[in-house]
Amino acid sequence: MSDQTIDTLLDEERRFPPPPAFAAQANVHADVYDRPFEEFWEANGRERVSWFQPFGELCRWQPPYAQWYLGGKLNVAYNCVDRHVEAGLGDRVAYYWEGEPEGDRLTITYARLQRDVARMANVLGQLGVGKGTAVAIYMGMVPELPVAMLACARLGAPHTVVFGGFSADSLSDRMNDMGCEVLITQDEAWRRGGRVPLKRTADEAMAAAPGVRASVVVRRTGGEVPMTEGRDHWYHEVEASDDPATVPCAPMDSEDLLFLMYTSGTTAKPKGIVHTTAGYLVGVATTHWAIFDLKPESDVYWCAADIGWITGHSYIVYGPLCNAATSVLYEGTPDFPDKDRWWDIVERYGVTTLYTAPTAIRAHMKWGPEHAGRHDLSSLRLLGSVGEPINPEAWMWYHEHIGGERCPIVDTWWQTETGMVLITPLPGVTTTKPGSATKPFPGVRAAVLNEQGERVEQGGGYLVLERPWPAMTRGIYGDDERFRSTYWERFPGFYFAGDGARIDADGDFWLLGRVDDVMNVSGHRISTIEVESALVDHPKVAEAAVCGRSDATTGQAIVAYVTLKGNEGPSLEMLEELRNHVAHKIGAIAKPANIVFTPELPKTRSGKIMRRLLRDVAENRPLGDTTTLADASVVSELSQRAAEAP
Ligand code: PRX
Repeated sequence: MSDQTIDTLLDEERRFPPPPAFAAQANVHADVYDRPFEEFWEANGRERVSWFQPFGELCRWQPPYAQWYLGGKLNVAYNCVDRHVEAGLGDRVAYYWEGEPEGDRLTITYARLQRDVARMANVLGQLGVGKGTAVAIYMGMVPELPVAMLACARLGAPHTVVFGGFSADSLSDRMNDMGCEVLITQDEAWRRGGRVPLKRTADEAMAAAPGVRASVVVRRTGGEVPMTEGRDHWYHEVEASDDPATVPCAPMDSEDLLFLMYTSGTTAKPKGIVHTTAGYLVGVATTHWAIFDLKPESDVYWCAADIGWITGHSYIVYGPLCNAATSVLYEGTPDFPDKDRWWDIVERYGVTTLYTAPTAIRAHMKWGPEHAGRHDLSSLRLLGSVGEPINPEAWMWYHEHIGGERCPIVDTWWQTETGMVLITPLPGVTTTKPGSATKPFPGVRAAVLNEQGERVEQGGGYLVLERPWPAMTRGIYGDDERFRSTYWERFPGFYFAGDGARIDADGDFWLLGRVDDVMNVSGHRISTIEVESALVDHPKVAEAAVCGRSDATTGQAIVAYVTLKGNEGPSLEMLEELRNHVAHKIGAIAKPANIVFTPELPKTRSGKIMRRLLRDVAENRPLGDTTTLADASVVSELSQRAAEAP
């Protein structure tokens, strides 16, 4: 974030106290902050989740590893599905599913979800999936995606969901790292009227992941896809019972692995973030209930993220289902077939709660308020934001044009690693300020430290967390050393989130973006080094340096500086080829917005690429300190080329 943006944030003086009518009916009140931390998490552990065997010890903290709800036995799928049916809620809608092709809809009750999960679990069981078998899931936003996750959870098989926009390499890397034996995918996915060839990409990935011995393929578009005899199985062709009694919910230990979610760090290799059973479930259910003021009997809740990211895991699947909520699940994009798709969905289902990302809000802003204006959005009562800092302008637009100036907005800060929201307003309690995520959630303690590790009472610095919370990651899969050095060494005794933050005079937190080599493009985390290695993987590239520059819609956009080998000359064709190469290596989300060809990169005398300088060039800012630069003329040359870049 530029200094100018930070100043704008600090000048923000608008205040939005909770509307009195909202506050009066809210699930939680101000006294929630007074509850002792142990008592808060202990009570929520008992109230939000059903146990096959109650837990004995609340939390064992052996930094940097925490364990929660020790001694308990439970099953996540039982908590998310079966117990609701047993409680007589079988007819309640779990998901209103909206497919992309017009009119493609499905209403999935909890009773139906239970049968669907049982069937999927039986199919997986026939393929030898049981407790501890690692399963990869590579799908679009179809009902079978949450069903697949829940089926794994029912069997005690840990899953990793890989976002459908990722490449074959990204998929095979993840499957190999986790040791996946089975892959669940679909023929193709619909996107903007086109078809995304998931199975073909999965085939390429399986060729590079020899441990994967079987795949289950859900038919979505009906497109022709190759099937490998003996390995690939059409889901609809496998004979399997959908009677839940045929496939019991495996009793799991509180600390058994539930899933891995891979995310970008500051090296080229994504990290497998570990989430376990009980703490994760209690954490996401408690936050979902409190922050979204969930009234499961009457709310229609919609988190418009993709399940392939942590937001979807925690707040489309596990949190809402554990709370017996009715949610919307949608396939596609906000502007297809038209820019009012979301508002049409809100109106049709009477959505009460909408949770999305600033990048989406800014896209809607750009398209203009008339699209929302054509629909009745009066059912909305609460709005949420996640994924990146929300600029006050986008906050105000959301408040006025979507929230009709009556809906509180919860700006929720969290990460793949934190599993659950950690800094957020509580909608019936907190006076919100556009651009501030306000206060740590009850039972969570956050702080801002300066460069020396001293506490900043008011002002800017590094965001840290002071004590464990139930859904915190249990580490990076197979890489204890990286876990310690990434999060725990910078400020010993604290979890270092990698974000800059400020605390204001009221003790409210303002998030300022990443302070490391991680970019945030449309709310997606991408490492500069990951993109650099994809670029240098191209045979004609000698060297590459990547940075993020501010972008009005996507938050940040990727800029690459590339030095070509030998006699290769820059050209528009080369530019397209490199962009496509990155898409092929990582996924389309990682495609650089600009590529600047340069004969040399700015390096320090010790040979380190000066990324800060590259960012200044990318954002046309006056260049910072260049005294450590080996060859100062490189920079002026670079500015010149950046200005001329196609
Ligand atoms: O920089 C912060 C930003 O997103 C990062 C986490 O990304 P990821 O693990 O992909 O999870 C995204 C969804 C939880 C954080 O380090 N971020 C997330 N939410 C906010 C945010 N930045 C500012 N305000 C937020 N509300």
